[in-house]
Amino acid sequence: MIKKGIILAGGNGTRMSPLTKAVNKQLLPIYDKPLIYYPLSVLMLSGIKDILIIVNKGQLNQFKKILPNGNNLGIKITYAEQSHPRGLPDAFVIGKKFIGNNNVALILGDNFFYGQSLTKKLKNCVMLNRGAKVILHPVNNTSSYGIATINKKNKIIKIVEKPKKTSSNLAVTGLYFFDKNVVKYSESLKPSRRKEIEIVDLLNKYKRRNKLSAEFLGRGGAWLDTGSIKDFYDTSAFVSALEKRQGLKIACLEEIAIKNKWINKKNIVEAIKFYGKCDYSLYLLKLLKQK
Ligand code: G1P
Repeated sequence: MIKKGIILAGGNGTRMSPLTKAVNKQLLPIYDKPLIYYPLSVLMLSGIKDILIIVNKGQLNQFKKILPNGNNLGIKITYAEQSHPRGLPDAFVIGKKFIGNNNVALILGDNFFYGQSLTKKLKNCVMLNRGAKVILHPVNNTSSYGIATINKKNKIIKIVEKPKKTSSNLAVTGLYFFDKNVVKYSESLKPSRRKEIEIVDLLNKYKRRNKLSAEFLGRGGAWLDTGSIKDFYDTSAFVSALEKRQGLKIACLEEIAIKNKWINKKNIVEAIKFYGKCDYSLYLLKLLKQK
């Protein structure tokens, strides 16, 4: 069972400069909320309440203004700073104390997930006891992602980081589930040619031991990432289209928290005060009236 989760929200966001010169990428808007709300909502939907957010050195105060300590959401948020990006598995080296002897989930701060049976799938993933699990989803631009090749039994037989050529279209998404060995394995990784420790090398350590499994979002699920300015617009357009049509918000953290029974109406009233007069508050007000 996985009860702890890490959001890796470091990185310089160079591809989005000058937007990211003064503000961390994860605090920029995807339609009507900061990007960080979306990966955080994924962990909350999984039932994870103990969350470590890894941010760039010097950016802690920006994050704490919007996500202080999690009390308002009935969860526990702690922060750690990363001095410079050393590769994704560095999250487990930085998070060593937080993880302790537990299993842990990792989500990249710029990944967006949406889909009909997402919560059910997530709940299944956090049941993991031993080994590692990744979520695979088809993409067009295979040279931008870790790509997995699977056999007829949906078993991963190969993972390659950003291949120039591949016959598979299945990307390894930025949501991973690991057993407690992840710290030990991450610490033993050697930097690659681009001088970073690589998530693919970590996953291969599990694969070699026959302990790597795959989950699939399915065609009806959406996995978008927000690496570039164009991606921000595309993802914002996706959220805006759905929210306007349905009158339901994607990644409203207070809504998830109250549905999980982690907070009560009083917390929603406080949230409305915190956000002030805005569309998001009006949505929270609607939630209050429903109950
Ligand atoms: C990272 C991983 C890659 C994964 C991707 C998902 O790439 O290295 O394996 O498919 O995240 O978003 P990056 O976004 O750092 O280029």
